[in-house]
Amino acid sequence: LLLAVAAATLAFATFLVVPAFAQSPIIIKFSHVVANDTPKGKGALKFKELAEKYTDGKVKIEVYPNSSLYKDKEEIEALQLGSVQMLAPSTAKFAPLGIKEFEALDLPWLFKDDATYSSAMKGTVGKWLFQKLEAKGITGLAYWDNGFHMVSSNRPLMKPEDFKGLKFRISGSKIADQYFRLLGSIPQIMAFSEVYQALQTGVVDGCENTASNYLTQKFYEVQKDITVSYHAHLQYAVIVNSKFWSGLPPDIRAQLEKAMVEATDYTNLIAHQENEDALAEIKKTGKTTLHYLSDADRKAWQEAMQPTYKWAKGRVGQEVLDLVAKELD
Ligand code: LMR
Repeated sequence: LLLAVAAATLAFATFLVVPAFAQSPIIIKFSHVVANDTPKGKGALKFKELAEKYTDGKVKIEVYPNSSLYKDKEEIEALQLGSVQMLAPSTAKFAPLGIKEFEALDLPWLFKDDATYSSAMKGTVGKWLFQKLEAKGITGLAYWDNGFHMVSSNRPLMKPEDFKGLKFRISGSKIADQYFRLLGSIPQIMAFSEVYQALQTGVVDGCENTASNYLTQKFYEVQKDITVSYHAHLQYAVIVNSKFWSGLPPDIRAQLEKAMVEATDYTNLIAHQENEDALAEIKKTGKTTLHYLSDADRKAWQEAMQPTYKWAKGRVGQEVLDLVAKELD
């Protein structure tokens, strides 16, 4: 009997000191809005694979793609409330948090190519932007690449005048709002999950996005003309709830950080090719016409959108514009 009492006491004592996280596996819900078969979708699955492997099953990553758990705005609220632990929103979507500085990355023709973009984001501006999130209880872990935006409607968009009077869906950034307005069109913020139907029913006339999103959301089915303009860049911030992240046992957090570094390298490596392949697929469907800008056309777009840069000072502030410019020197 004495032995049994001693064993029970020990078991009870052990129970008392067991931290909440020891009730394994630790579940990380990773919600995002795009398809699995995109750079971000594949990155999330790669992170799941590596994180579960490195933590030896102590952590389970549940990936919810395609807005199946939350739509754009709700997912950020859910992260702050702790209903979801990890997200990878486009950096164009932080204004509802009161953080506008990320929108500097949406300036038209800011990055001349993928290499310029990735070297810029490895510099100080990336870290500086992540500090802005901390005050909101959010920790930035990595930047994931997608690629450059194309733009579409049911008529060819070749000259700035072609945009006049058309309604375009934008994802959230006021910088995009501004450059569409400068072209004489009417931008409208809308959740990503609602875009296909809005294009189909004519709630909006057009949109901008990367080839992988056009393909996997089937936007090409409801847009007769796509201009491969590559006028602005789409990138993601992989973010976590700070309290959750800092509360993880340090060894587990280190394993997850390693998984994130590798998943980030993987995502950023495949992004360009994924979009090239998606563009070829879209072309093959024959359901839309792809248009390419001549040098003169591009110059006309750039001139029409140029005032966005001056306007941006009032929106995002000079500090972030200087930090971005420094990385582009
Ligand atoms: C959009 O809303 O167009 C994009 O942010 C979707 C995405 O996450 O790629």
